[in-house]
Amino acid sequence: MTDTKTERAANTRRADTYLSWQLRRPRRNRQSEALRSMVRETHLTAKDFILPLFVREGEGQRDAIDSMPDVFRLTPDLVLREAEKAFKMGIPAVILFAFVSPDKKDAKGSEAYRSDNVVNETVKLLKRELPELCVMVDIALDPYTDHGHDGVLCPKGRILNDPSCEVLGKMTLAAAEAGADFVAPSDMMDGRVGYLRRLLDSHNFQDVGILSYTVKYTSACYAPFRDALQSAPKIGDKKTYQMDPANVREALIEAKLDEDEGADMLMVKPAGLYLDVIAKMRQQTELPIAAFHVSGEYSMVKAAAQLGWIDGDRMMHEALLGIKRAGADIILSYAAPQIVPLLG
Ligand code: PBG
Repeated sequence: MTDTKTERAANTRRADTYLSWQLRRPRRNRQSEALRSMVRETHLTAKDFILPLFVREGEGQRDAIDSMPDVFRLTPDLVLREAEKAFKMGIPAVILFAFVSPDKKDAKGSEAYRSDNVVNETVKLLKRELPELCVMVDIALDPYTDHGHDGVLCPKGRILNDPSCEVLGKMTLAAAEAGADFVAPSDMMDGRVGYLRRLLDSHNFQDVGILSYTVKYTSACYAPFRDALQSAPKIGDKKTYQMDPANVREALIEAKLDEDEGADMLMVKPAGLYLDVIAKMRQQTELPIAAFHVSGEYSMVKAAAQLGWIDGDRMMHEALLGIKRAGADIILSYAAPQIVPLLG
């Protein structure tokens, strides 16, 4: 700062004006990185993240996903490598999603509860090689059903709630038997958290936790994910089970229900477009809140960065920071391994 005589004189003159009598000057706390770092309210760390991983059958194979730059479908051996890299960075958890070939899909998603399906085999591998890593399994039928819905359909095309829960129950038990630490039901069926909790307890899996996709909106943001898993619904849409993006009171009802039914953590999804929902839920519940920065949110940042229109790393960091600032304790993010090394 140059403090010349003329400047000092000008400052003294200005001292008589109204402006100089401002007692509060918030900019004082922003003058240096030293000060800024002391007054910083929100910190992102490796421990905030759960890394979503796409698993496919085979060995040594890695498929690019056009609509998700820097994200891959991996065979179990490469999932292990990716999980190991993440765990070494301090990322404590991964969540697994299955890529299922069309010949293994059927109307009921029966591949979902086979004890040696690709996800369950990967769970076993991860728990054997990285026992300290928290391994979560996404519980829903859409990657496994030939119609692409998260549950069981009746002939008229409606998703049947309770029969769907029964299949999700079988899938949950298979994941628990494989050694999953947590299951994450993403189907939005009514009552499934309570059903899965009882089922797990009655099979001696009291320690397997439930991260419930409590508030999952019908969002355009899931398109790259459905691309990655080739899981887009073939008939209709998911509006009869995923929530209307216009609603927030309904989110608080879902949160109460999941809490009462025994969820260990609640999730809001997508994250960045629903910060108000995260903030309101934060006021209602004492449970940890997770937020899923979903595929479309990830890819929008990547696409704009590829065009040179924004700084991708800064944008991604800002998006994730905003989610934590809104009240999320945990963030599911495909960008975690890219962003964590940049955190101070
Ligand atoms: C499946 C599921 C979806 C996502 C997570 N679990 C897709 C959907 O509901 O259609 C989306 C995740 C993402 O977009 O990153 N039930």
